[in-house]
Amino acid sequence: MAYLEIKGATKSFGNFTALNGVDVSVERGEFFTLLGPSGCGKTTLLRAIAGFNDLTSGDITVDGADLRRVPPHQRDIGMVFQDYAVFPHLSVFDNVAFGLKPRKVPAAEIRTRVAAALAAVHLEKLADRLPAAMSGGQQQRIGLARAMVINPRLLLMDEPLSNLDAKLRIELREEIRDIQKQVGIATIYVTHDQEEALAISDRICVMSAGHIEQIGTPQQIYGNPQTRFVAEFVGTLNRLAPGAATDTLVAGLGVKNAALWAIRPERLALAAPGEAGVAGTVTRYTYLGREAHVHVETAVGNLAVQVANPGMAAVSAVGDAVTLRLDPASLLAFDADGKRIGAEP
Ligand SMILES: Nc1ncnc2c1ncn2[C@@H]1O[C@H](COP(=O)(O)OP(=O)(O)OP(=O)(O)O)[C@@H](O)[C@H]1O
Ligand SMILES: [Mg+2]
Repeated sequence: MAYLEIKGATKSFGNFTALNGVDVSVERGEFFTLLGPSGCGKTTLLRAIAGFNDLTSGDITVDGADLRRVPPHQRDIGMVFQDYAVFPHLSVFDNVAFGLKPRKVPAAEIRTRVAAALAAVHLEKLADRLPAAMSGGQQQRIGLARAMVINPRLLLMDEPLSNLDAKLRIELREEIRDIQKQVGIATIYVTHDQEEALAISDRICVMSAGHIEQIGTPQQIYGNPQTRFVAEFVGTLNRLAPGAATDTLVAGLGVKNAALWAIRPERLALAAPGEAGVAGTVTRYTYLGREAHVHVETAVGNLAVQVANPGMAAVSAVGDAVTLRLDPASLLAFDADGKRIGAEP
């Protein structure tokens, strides 16, 4: 049995079903991410684990114990939210100590535990400051220290980085991952940012409209998507236009029932002069330094091509005739229900 087991989690609000039979298991020490578009039920699931909202039906156990029977304040769960939720009138130290006082922890132990939590988030030098004058990243570190200091059984984080600017988001997500690996608390992290999910997680659970599409490692989610939804939500997907040209391209693959053929931009390349491939015309060229994004109009659709290390020379201009190197074995096929055909299990 896994450390956290969620079975058949269903939550209705009136006649709207926000969660529909969700099964999730999280191992001890695992960094587990819920990823999905707005409204898919991520926060609803976190709130059910924390006890802010009970499920309509389903089971949640931690370490074998039934969590739904434990009142929220006794669940020993640390939470970090999108807004920093620090108390402006309390020092950094007192903010972090806040959760320990009602637990009747002796003063000396409070001092050592708060000091350790502040050291983990690199705020030990700012313990006496008031948070008002601190940056968003620092305030979020306070929130993280406050959640960890109670030695929770689980750490829940709901989009903790979404109020920060792009550079700080990347810095802090790496820090969060390092800290989580150090302290080893099983963590459920919510984001709708696919790159963040890939970067930070041991496993990702992709959700859509109250159900699970796929659970897997970042590599499995990106490299072996089980559904069209996952393939489109995580990364970029070129859809081939249905028609004779696409039929000819895939004819040798022997796949029946495909309703959609698609390919990732990094699986396409600009062919060398004279090389065989799919002929097309450049409709857009975006140079981004270490890569370039080239859009090419072809008989099988307008395809985005990701060119690594474009350098100084390899510049195509809008209107150029180019040939695309396209290995049919790199194509992804989906059936009419959006299930991937030929996915590895
Ligand atoms: N208290 C409530 N009453 C009625 N409907 C609710 C309630 N809470 C959530 N919902 C609905 O349940 C669905 C899931 O909401 P939830 O907040 O879990 O989504 P989310 O995945 O966290 O989205 P976001 O990325 O925008 O935070 C939404 O359609 C939302 O409107
Ligand atoms: Mg939410």
